[in-house]
Amino acid sequence: MSAVDRGSLSDRGSLSEGAQRPRRTAETRRSADGSPRFDSQARSTSGKVWLVGAGPGDPGLLTLRGLRALEQADVIVADRLGARAVLDGLAADGVELTAEVVDVGKLPGHHAVPQDAINALLVQLAQDGKNVVRLKGGDPYIFGRGGEELLFCQEAGIAVEVVPGITSAVSVPAVAGIPLTHRGVATGFTVVTAHDQIRQVGGGRDHTVVLLMGVGTLANSAITLARGDRGADCPVAIVEDGYGASQRVTIGTLATIAHQAAARGVRSPAVVVVGDVVRLSPFAPAELATLDLDSYDPLATEHTRKASIS
Ligand SMILES: C[S@@+](CC[C@H](N)C(=O)[O-])C[C@H]1O[C@@H](n2cnc3c(N)ncnc32)[C@H](O)[C@@H]1O
Repeated sequence: MSAVDRGSLSDRGSLSEGAQRPRRTAETRRSADGSPRFDSQARSTSGKVWLVGAGPGDPGLLTLRGLRALEQADVIVADRLGARAVLDGLAADGVELTAEVVDVGKLPGHHAVPQDAINALLVQLAQDGKNVVRLKGGDPYIFGRGGEELLFCQEAGIAVEVVPGITSAVSVPAVAGIPLTHRGVATGFTVVTAHDQIRQVGGGRDHTVVLLMGVGTLANSAITLARGDRGADCPVAIVEDGYGASQRVTIGTLATIAHQAAARGVRSPAVVVVGDVVRLSPFAPAELATLDLDSYDPLATEHTRKASIS
């Protein structure tokens, strides 16, 4: 991403539609320790918040509109997953952002900033006249609490705009060569977290299930799905750290995947894909790809390989 278009938001029309230009000269009010103040008194309503989806962590998968918002921002309030990696990747690509970055993914001691505090911070910064980008992993609206942040800002009278991002639910399977739908193989898909909703996911192997935040509850999810029409030998893929340095693909069946994940020390973040589309992955073992599952034993040999992206 060497050639960066630095056109202004207003040049591009929709980013600044309906919003006053932020006062870029306004000073952020700060506590004694330098952190933004969370006091509730509004002094200006000229700031605006952009909820920007960062994608799965590769700067090449940030949208152009998202990049332009980052370039115009006074402050970037960034998540840990996806967002931080994109900022680091942009810097490595020579993209110079002038905004102050507030990392709300973790604080010293590794505790995430509570959602209430993030909401209050966004409002406070905007009330201080700042042009604020809330940079969130994947898409802000997919298990990202983006809707809550939008409502909180709107209720405080802050102008908000959402810039969609490429969700990990679609992009992380793609990096393992798995399309969520494919003619003759799968006609639809459902994205859920691996908790209670999973019992309500119907369909068979031609309806792909994508699990986010699913590593800790993988064994339960696999058992629940195996009891339905998909059956115990339904193919499953786990894609860890998609687009990251630790990217890894593990492929098995609903009967075997929890054991494989434990044996390999599978860790979050990971996307789990369940359904016949997994057979299409170049990382799928030959026995799985040939559609003959009767003789397939994914524990018999090593079926996982390191994915490489260029
Ligand atoms: C709180 S959800 C946020 C999802 C995000 N809003 C999106 O649209 O991708 C976090 C989960 O997304 C998935 N995830 C996000 N980025 C990922 C990545 N680069 N590799 C694998 N999984 C990822 C993991 O399942 C993780 O537990």
